[in-house]
Amino acid sequence: MADHDDLTSDSAPPWEEEPAERDENTADIFGAPPAEPVAAPAVVAPTPVAVEAPSDPDAAYTVLARKYRPRTFEDLIGQEAMVRTLANAFSSGRIAHAFMLTGVRGVGKTTTARLLARALNYETDTVHQPSVDLTVDGRHCKSIIEGRHMDVLELDAASRTKVDEMRELLDGVRYAPVEARYKVYIIDEVHMLSTAAFNALLKTLEEPPPHAKFIFATTEIRKVPVTILSRTQRFDLRRVEPDVLVKHFDRIAAKEGARVDADGLALIARAAEGSVRDGLSLLDQAIVQADRGATVSAAVIRDMLGLADRGHPGRFPRPVGFRGRSGGGDAGSAGPLPRFGRGQGLGARRPDPAQGTGRPPGRHRGPYLGRHPVAPVADVAEGP
Ligand SMILES: Nc1ncnc2c1ncn2[C@@H]1O[C@H](COP(=O)(O)OP(=O)(O)OP(=O)(O)O)[C@@H](O)[C@H]1O
Ligand SMILES: [Mg+2]
Repeated sequence: MADHDDLTSDSAPPWEEEPAERDENTADIFGAPPAEPVAAPAVVAPTPVAVEAPSDPDAAYTVLARKYRPRTFEDLIGQEAMVRTLANAFSSGRIAHAFMLTGVRGVGKTTTARLLARALNYETDTVHQPSVDLTVDGRHCKSIIEGRHMDVLELDAASRTKVDEMRELLDGVRYAPVEARYKVYIIDEVHMLSTAAFNALLKTLEEPPPHAKFIFATTEIRKVPVTILSRTQRFDLRRVEPDVLVKHFDRIAAKEGARVDADGLALIARAAEGSVRDGLSLLDQAIVQADRGATVSAAVIRDMLGLADRGHPGRFPRPVGFRGRSGGGDAGSAGPLPRFGRGQGLGARRPDPAQGTGRPPGRHRGPYLGRHPVAPVADVAEGP
């Protein structure tokens, strides 16, 4: 009945409610003013990036790894060689058009990519050229950090692997930046792109317009075609040394008003296997182990990491089917173990000489599984 009422009501049928097509620049034939211009939709929406933690204590908790994302190149720990090279390139005006940042998980690739985007577009009232000194926020810094700058486009290759998506992105490359100096394309996890998408990228990467810069980040450099690699300037981000990590965690714990035993911090640093993010996640977990104001002891952290019992396989589970050298038992004595790349599970892989660049000699003998390394239990348990 209701339907019937609707049909017989005075309201116009749906096809008459649709706005009539008309030229927006001409006046209405009945004298109405021209229609408001409609804003053109952005081709690629930038992915929101991490923002500083809100100071409101009631606001949602931000994990330490996000809260302490470096805001300047000086804040980056353990990557001095890369920072020095970049600083020299910037000061001499020899800035590459494409950068490839590689290294294991959580050593600062995405962070560096965003810092680079800011450095390339750095501008203040007195500075009118790219600069790696980001101590004072430039005109574009805030919006780049918040992931809403029109000229800095961040693409997660892991979720946009297809060639059509790459073509859509590349279509926009020829247009000049709207307000910044350079149009910066950050392509994270670039190894996930399909072969066709990589091929679509080749031509632009060979001769990009002068206003375009590309920054790629990947944990799996071997999966990136050599044709792409040879068109980029490569930076290998290193695993961070345990003593550097300890100092970093100590500073952060102090800022958080938490007390953590020095031996406990050393245990966390060793378990992190050179990854700052892994270490900060463990620190996050450690801080809540003690009551507010009390010190988190090394014993508690040892327990948390699963090291109290030497026979325990460690904090992170071993891959299904993994037997170590003698089929289990003392994980700490499990000799030279296979290493797995990110998300690779048990895929048989040879050790990668390229990955070795960031690995201090004689360390990190344990395998790692993507973001969750199997802690080298023997190393940690026999630690400092
Ligand atoms: N070199 C570093 N110095 C200081 N903090 C770091 C560094 N590297 C990583 N971090 C911390 O780890 C967090 C994650 O870093 P980032 O996202 O840059 O890692 P990533 O190398 O891109 O890792 P993934 O390969 O997993 O994407 C940062 O927010 C920061 O807190
Ligand atoms: Mg990253």
